[in-house]
Amino acid sequence: MIGIFDSGIGGLTVANAIRKQLPEVPMMYFGDSAHLPYGDKSPELIRHYAARIAHYLVDQGCRIVVIACNTASAQAFETVKDVAGPHIPVVNVIDPVAAEVAVRYKGEKVGVIGTKGTIRSKVYAKRIQKLSPDIRVASLATPLLAPMIEEGFFKNDISQAVIHTYLAKPALKGISALILGCTHYPLIRKQVQAYFGNQVEVIDSTDTVAEEVAALYHNLDPQPAGAGENHFIVSDYTDAFERSTRIFFKERVSLEEVRLWD
Ligand code: DGL
Repeated sequence: MIGIFDSGIGGLTVANAIRKQLPEVPMMYFGDSAHLPYGDKSPELIRHYAARIAHYLVDQGCRIVVIACNTASAQAFETVKDVAGPHIPVVNVIDPVAAEVAVRYKGEKVGVIGTKGTIRSKVYAKRIQKLSPDIRVASLATPLLAPMIEEGFFKNDISQAVIHTYLAKPALKGISALILGCTHYPLIRKQVQAYFGNQVEVIDSTDTVAEEVAALYHNLDPQPAGAGENHFIVSDYTDAFERSTRIFFKERVSLEEVRLWD
């Protein structure tokens, strides 16, 4: 199985992209709905939650662990790698995008939007500039976007007003590309692209991450035996969550509840 986790159900956008790359491969998705949002939490607390979830996924037999959350990728990548050990690859949603941007935007200015935690960590600037020091990275926290999208507000007047208010901020003036640094944001990709027109390329991590996961999967040794069932788990079940899975995964899925913290 491929283990995937996020603070809630936003990471299902990544799970959906992985499913397209590896349709036969079972996945175990864990949404830590008891503790969402991660975007406002301290790095210590996020590391604590991420370590517990990673232990669970590894105990369940996952052979790859994907951190399908920018905030947890920013704060807890090393922690999750320590839990997974040397034989289970861990993929975060930041490095594949940073690598792509570092090659394509040398000498230019790129923007990043994400949760307060992701932006405060400056993780995108650090990872991109480590590879290409001459790229300028402008970061903007956009904390209203994730809860808004989770409520199904991404194609109406209210979401339009919120998105435009953020994108008009002076920090993003002059960018050549904008990284959608939150796994909820692929849902508003079209709206963001429409705001900028052809002037700015809008980049989200889902396909790049899914390609990396597929490459790692094909390199697993020994190759996993075969098909099995997908599991979609949350740490606190509600009907509303289950209904919202359709927004992110393009179909409604049945959620199981596992209370890791009881
Ligand atoms: N999906 C999370 C991310 O990519 C954001 C949601 C949250 O704040 O928990 O950062």
